[in-house]
Amino acid sequence: MIVCLCHSISDREVREHVEHGCRTVGQVGRACGAGTDCGQCVNQLARMVRAAAPSSPGGEPGVPIAQQPRVL
Ligand code: FES
Repeated sequence: MIVCLCHSISDREVREHVEHGCRTVGQVGRACGAGTDCGQCVNQLARMVRAAAPSSPGGEPGVPIAQQPRVL
């Protein structure tokens, strides 16, 4: 299923990035671009990150990645 229409990123691709260490929506965005344009997918990305890594804050739901603080 496509999660991010702007970048044609699937749920599988997002899960792969989380499995490979992405722990926030911002990190997923930097890895593949998901959530970095219109922001409509950010809430779903945050849910997926939280589900895969429950201790992660997953970024700020509903806030476009470009407006979220950078996680280094
Ligand atoms: S749908 Fe993901 S940034 Fe637009």
